Amino acid sequence: MSHDRCACSEEQERDDIDLALLSPVLERHLGQPGALIPVLQEAQEVYGYLPETVLRAIGRGLGVAIAEVYGVTTFYSQFHLEPRGRTVIRICHGTACHVRGADAVTTVLTDELGVGVGQTAPDLSYTIESVACVGCCGLAPVVVVDEQMHGGLDSNKARKLARRLQREHTR
Ligand code: FES
Repeated sequence: MSHDRCACSEEQERDDIDLALLSPVLERHLGQPGALIPVLQEAQEVYGYLPETVLRAIGRGLGVAIAEVYGVTTFYSQFHLEPRGRTVIRICHGTACHVRGADAVTTVLTDELGVGVGQTAPDLSYTIESVACVGCCGLAPVVVVDEQMHGGLDSNKARKLARRLQREHTR
């Protein structure tokens, strides 16, 4: 994402994003040392991600330089600068999962759902991410859908999982 956007694109973004929702977050933390990270976390809960307009408003509200705000959001993987899908699918590519077929599982999920790794579907239904070990190597290969763990996957099970997710999204 470019940080040097023209004024008209910022105006456009302001129209879409209700900054009034940010005010209570800023008020709760105003004057607190180290407020930036909790404010970013709460803002992300409010908006689902951290749009540029919100980052600028946080910088202004806390009196923190925009470069510092961006520095924090890009350093911590918990922060997302782009919209994410309603369902987030994290495919483990740690060593155990890699050895036991994470690539095949990835191929099935990306093909079935039509979303590449590191991408979000245009209709914001799914985001697929590749992650390092999620801590249950005994179940490898593992996929985490939102907070739910799916272990022992193979191509068939991955296909069934993808189709179940598609059914849930079309309900
Ligand atoms: S490598 Fe996938 S859970 Fe550990």
